Amino acid sequence: MKLFDVYPLFDVNIVKGKGCHVWDDKGQEYLDLYGGHAVISIGHAHPHYVEAISKQVASLGFYSNSVINKLQQEVADRLGAMCGYDDYQLFLINSGAEANENALKLASFYNGRTRIVSFAKAFHGRTSLAVEVTNNPKIIAPVNDNGHVTYLPWNDVDAMKAELAKGDVCAVIIEGIQGVGGIQVPAPGFMQAIRQACDENGTVLILDEIQSGYGRSGKFFSHQYDGIRPDMITVAKGIGNGFPMAGVLISPKFTPVYGQLGTTFGGNHLACAAAIAVLDVMKAENLVENAARVGAHLMEELKKFEGIKEVRGRGLMIGLEFENPIKEIRQKLLFEQKVFTGVSGTNVIRLLPPLCLSMAEADEFLNRLHNVLK
Ligand SMILES: Cc1ncc(COP(=O)(O)O)c(C=O)c1O
Repeated sequence: MKLFDVYPLFDVNIVKGKGCHVWDDKGQEYLDLYGGHAVISIGHAHPHYVEAISKQVASLGFYSNSVINKLQQEVADRLGAMCGYDDYQLFLINSGAEANENALKLASFYNGRTRIVSFAKAFHGRTSLAVEVTNNPKIIAPVNDNGHVTYLPWNDVDAMKAELAKGDVCAVIIEGIQGVGGIQVPAPGFMQAIRQACDENGTVLILDEIQSGYGRSGKFFSHQYDGIRPDMITVAKGIGNGFPMAGVLISPKFTPVYGQLGTTFGGNHLACAAAIAVLDVMKAENLVENAARVGAHLMEELKKFEGIKEVRGRGLMIGLEFENPIKEIRQKLLFEQKVFTGVSGTNVIRLLPPLCLSMAEADEFLNRLHNVLK
């Protein structure tokens, strides 16, 4: 059987990882400024993580959501304390798209409405509603194109207020920092204005922190720079450091109803063991603070580079916009300088390294980028 060929691939076979480095099958080492697409939070093959998952799988990898799973409560307690949302409720699933799908469903169950506001260049996943709120017609299949969604311009307070004032908007969904959209940080005041308009119009505010959350921005959640509290927060990627897992953090104003949401694999024992190990390491190694410190250093140095049009981001979620397409720069970074980076559109390089990136590794990246751009 052939693989369904939907991914344009680099001709590299990664077989091993450690911290912020990965190795291919020929033994070549690479510096990982991509984190497997913002997924690796505590670093590749962290010994505590390896031990926790190994122990768990040796005793119980999976049992269903029809029995008590104390590990789920431990994830909820630990996550609530660490991110400042102790009073919220946690629903566990397996992927980012599923997290947004469930958050949107719950919003609609809550207020009975069907219209969603999303934003230009938004990306929220590829399942039915998650893809409909994603502002990319190329990946919205006709069956998903159901007219639920109004896409508004990014950072446009007046357009947002006017749309919500119609009084029939179920939910606003917004990324903490737009990732696929090119590392777009919301302008000061935009998040607060959305929060206020949602309150005034009975609209649910869903913060997609799947890429920008879990410490990546230098705070646990990027929206915490804006001092707001959303009604729901979706998380995935870094929560399991590569183990597929996701969650919806749900405000106390939503009352759970038996059977209304559900999943076979969500919150399974192995996933919870991974998530607990991630939280252990994030705390012990102060990785949120590290992301803030190393990210600030990277941004400051990158702004001195000639040839980069704009440097945007927070913490270790950084976009480098160039005047021209970056394909060749990214190829040279990978094949000549042995550095993995991400991309947004044609002109933006995305940096999404593990949150344990050291100052020395950041400087090493700057040297290698300099070698390409000089
Ligand atoms: C902001 C955001 N939301 C949702 C998703 C979808 O997550 P997943 O691929 O785990 O379904 C992504 C993935 O890149 C994302 O960046």
